[in-house]
Amino acid sequence: MSFMSSTRGVPEVRDVPRHVAIIMDGNGRWAKQRLLPRVAGHRKGVEALRATVRSCVERGVEFLTLFAFSSENWRRPAEEVSILMQLFIRALEQEVAKLHENDIRFKVVGEISRFEPRIRELIAAGEALTASNERLTLTVAANYGGRWDIAQAANRLLSAHPEAARGFTPEALEPYLSMAYAPEPDLFIRTGGEQRISNFLLWQLAYTELYFTDLLWPDFDAAALGTAIASYKQRERRFGRTSEQLQAERA
Ligand code: IPE
Ligand code: IPE
Ligand code: MG
Repeated sequence: MSFMSSTRGVPEVRDVPRHVAIIMDGNGRWAKQRLLPRVAGHRKGVEALRATVRSCVERGVEFLTLFAFSSENWRRPAEEVSILMQLFIRALEQEVAKLHENDIRFKVVGEISRFEPRIRELIAAGEALTASNERLTLTVAANYGGRWDIAQAANRLLSAHPEAARGFTPEALEPYLSMAYAPEPDLFIRTGGEQRISNFLLWQLAYTELYFTDLLWPDFDAAALGTAIASYKQRERRFGRTSEQLQAERA
């Protein structure tokens, strides 16, 4: 399946975003506010993740992409990295079967070669088990970086088409990006109050509507998703055109 690139053409716009991408930020601060260790925030964050998957299914979102661990998160204290890896393993062990029961396709994007073998095995098994599910595609970005994605795509393009070394177009690169199986995100949400992309989907966010909330990720729930989608519905997605052009098209 291939999707309309937002720069090559004008994607179809609907009231419900087809693809929602989320930076789940604020777990550490949530815990700190309660005088708990950071891990308590990450644990609570997994619960918020579960609830968000459910809400997206109910609302008819087709693709949900969650930033779980960035290529820069290795810079955190070794103890926190290790706790995050343990939580990732547990979530993979416990959640994948439930995703499958709910007809959810599970995917991971990122440089997974850096993860320990157990994690890589669980990812491969989860992706294989759920490959033909159709209700929602849940992508977890793990050891993901937007710059890595563009570089790996260029490397794979050049291996497949050595003549591309003489020059290539954005359209030629797109099939090699790690999320080529999904349309570009319609709605980007970042919780936790920071207004930055932190090396998430740099290429794919070209025309995505951005939404920032001060809510910390463990507090993000169905109502908060509803508020974000309501904001999305208000946006006029022009993709470079004028408002008058859009009105004429609607008339
Ligand atoms: C997001 O929460 C989870 C990960 C990055 C893994 P943080 O751990 O970044 O929480 P804050 O930003 O310190 O509150
Ligand atoms: C972004 O959050 C990455 C994830 C949520 C996985 P960070 O907490 O790592 O982002 P910065 O460091 O504040 O930009
Ligand atoms: Mg953070």
